[in-house]
Formats: sequence, C-alpha cells, structure tokens
Amino acid sequence: MIKFGLVGTGVGGEFIARALQELRKEGIAELRAVVGRKPAKTESFAKRFGARGWYTSLRDMLSREELDAVAISTPHYLHFPQAVEVMEAGLHVLVDKPMAINLVEADEMIRLSERKGVKLGVIFEFRFDPDIERMKKLIDEGKLGKLIMGEAVVEWHRPAEYYERSDWRGRWATEGGGALINQAIHTIDLLLWLMGDVERLWALVGTFAHDIEVEDLAVAALKFRSGAFGVIQGSTAIYPGLPTRLEIHGTEGTLIWEGGSLKMAVVKGEEEVRSGAEAEGLASWARPEAVPIDNHVRLVRDFAQSIAEDRKPRVDGVEGRKSLEIIRAIYLSGRTGHVVELPLRE
Ligand SMILES: NC(=O)c1ccc[n+]([C@@H]2O[C@H](COP(=O)([O-])OP(=O)(O)OC[C@H]3O[C@@H](n4cnc5c(N)ncnc54)[C@H](OP(=O)(O)O)[C@@H]3O)[C@@H](O)[C@H]2O)c1
Repeated sequence: MIKFGLVGTGVGGEFIARALQELRKEGIAELRAVVGRKPAKTESFAKRFGARGWYTSLRDMLSREELDAVAISTPHYLHFPQAVEVMEAGLHVLVDKPMAINLVEADEMIRLSERKGVKLGVIFEFRFDPDIERMKKLIDEGKLGKLIMGEAVVEWHRPAEYYERSDWRGRWATEGGGALINQAIHTIDLLLWLMGDVERLWALVGTFAHDIEVEDLAVAALKFRSGAFGVIQGSTAIYPGLPTRLEIHGTEGTLIWEGGSLKMAVVKGEEEVRSGAEAEGLASWARPEAVPIDNHVRLVRDFAQSIAEDRKPRVDGVEGRKSLEIIRAIYLSGRTGHVVELPLRE
C-alpha cells in the first residue's frame, strides 16, 4: 500500500482524495494525511476521506508522518515550491496541472526528481480515458493515414464570481495565466499527445469578459513537426459554454472527441464508430462531486504502481511539461505578435 499525503482540499484535492478512496479498496494506495490552510476545513476534509492526520503546514506533515508520496493540488504558483519541499524530503510527488507556472520551474522539478531518485507525476487524467487511448491506438496504427490537422477547442464559460471568489485565480503571479493554463491545458495536452511536437506557432491572447489580468480568450495557429497544421482555442468567456472538442484529421479519416467521449471515428474502409451520448456537464465546476473520477483513479493507480515497480509514471515531468511549453509560447506570441519557434527557451 503506497501511503499518500495530500496538499490542497479544493476541487482538485477532492478528486485525488476520492481516487485514493477507491485505490484503498484495491489495496494499492491510501490517503494518510492532508494539508490545508483553514484548520476546521482541513480536519473535516481529512475525516471525510478517512485520513488520520491533518495539518496546516506541509513541513509539519513531512516531519511527522511516514509517507511514500505527496499529491499537490494547490494554487498554481505553489506547485513548484511545494514539490521541491516534498522531493527534498526524499518523497515521490504527484502534482496537479499545470506542473508549474513556467519552464524554469518545470525543468528544476524534473532535474530534482532525477537527482533525488524520486518519481514526479503530473495529473493529466484524460490521458487514461479509454476513448482517448482508443484514438491514440488508431493513430499509432496508421489508420488515419498521414495526420494533416488537429484542433483543441475549449469554449467554456466562467461567471465573474469564479474569479472574484478566488484569492489566486485571474492573476499572473498566482494562476500563471488564465483560460489556457487552467482550463484548456488538458485538451492541449491531449492534442500534443496525439499529434506530436510543435515546430512553430502564432497566437492572439486577450481578455474580453472578465475583470482579470490574465486571458479569458486565446487562439493559436500551429505547425507540427510532422508538417500537420493545428488550432488551439481556449476560453472562459464563451457564453453559455460549449462542450470541449478535440478533432484529429488524417488523409484517411477523422476522430472527434467531444464533451468527454469519442463522438466520431470515421476511417476509410472501416465501420464508423460513435460512442458516449453523455456530454460533460457544462456547470461541472460548480458540482465537482458529480464528476466521475474514473480517469483520476487510473492515473493515481499508475503513479502508485510506478513507485511499487520502480518505473516511470505514464505522465511524468517530461510529459507534463509539454503543454506548459506550448502555453508559454502562446503567451509569448500573444505579447510580441511574433511567430514563436519551438523548443522554447525561458
Ligand atoms: N486535474 C483536474 O481535473 C483538476 C480539476 C480541478 C482543479 N485542478 C487543479 O487543482 C489545483 C487546485 O485547484 P482548486 O480548484 O482545487 O483550487 P481551490 O478550490 O482554490 O483550492 C486550493 C486549495 O489549496 C489550499 N491552499 C491555498 N493556499 C495555500 C497555501 N499557501 N498553503 C497550503 N495550501 C494552500 C487551499 O486551502 P484552504 O481551502 O484551506 O484555503 C485549498 O484547499 C490547481 O492546480 C487546479 O488547476 C485540477
């Protein structure tokens, strides 16, 4: 049984705690202790998820508990210092997306995990979605022919209070960006996983519907190393909010993942596949307890097993860094108006 601590008791922390509840039943991993800021909230969270310890300081948890790993699900700017503290203590670390708010931090985290010989995992749970894995397999088998275009479209809506109620969202220093680094990052990660590395991009980045520093709308045109074209649209300003869409087009077929499931898989000469009539809840951020956690369970299981088997987790620091690099390049292009060539140096 891999023993986990958890930092952060918000929406992200709750997903991890629920996943660990499932994995305890499997005898794979369990939640031992929790860190939050507010004592009463942290204690009740710990009790709700069966963790024996609760703390208001990460240092206290690290010194008093016997843990194998710590999951971090706090405001984005804290991921780096907290992950460093955990790794310096010799423990494995599983950090929520984005792994950090810039590449300097991400690279330091990757280096430190290698130096300390600890696992560094990043929570991109959709990589474990069965429909996404099916898409990856069809592409890898060459069923789509030569890939020509990939699109990641995240046209969501967040009301003003989503930013007003939070002491860290909406600011560069604490969120590290807006709709791209927080909401669209999952779909950008999948686009890169399915389409491969990007060679160059050009982007427009703006703030249209919220009183915030960071973007609530961005569009980018990409050229992948394979020669294929790509499009990224990320927003929290599109009313009333539309289902997330990921489209992959090849010379021999098209795959469309929309609202959390594979809506179309058309490959020349093969039977068309459609699945998952259920669309994701548009207001899911307001009712996180209603969101299924199957993909979180799969990701945390893989991470725990990577410790037990002493192998890399499937989404390690190098994989987790990829979407961050593209998002940082989009911000740079938006600021300068220039085409940005990859890899990006920060
Ligand atoms: N993978 C996913 O699908 C998914 C889904 C949602 C969120 N996330 C990610 O999860 C992370 C947290 O987001 P969230 O929506 O859960 O945010 P949130 O609701 O604002 O919760 C943040 C948590 O961090 C704690 N915290 C804040 N400052 C802290 C500090 N200085 N030291 C220790 N703890 C501190 C807060 O404690 P108090 O409550 O006690 O103040 C709270 O428990 C982000 O990286 C987000 O992108 C991921």
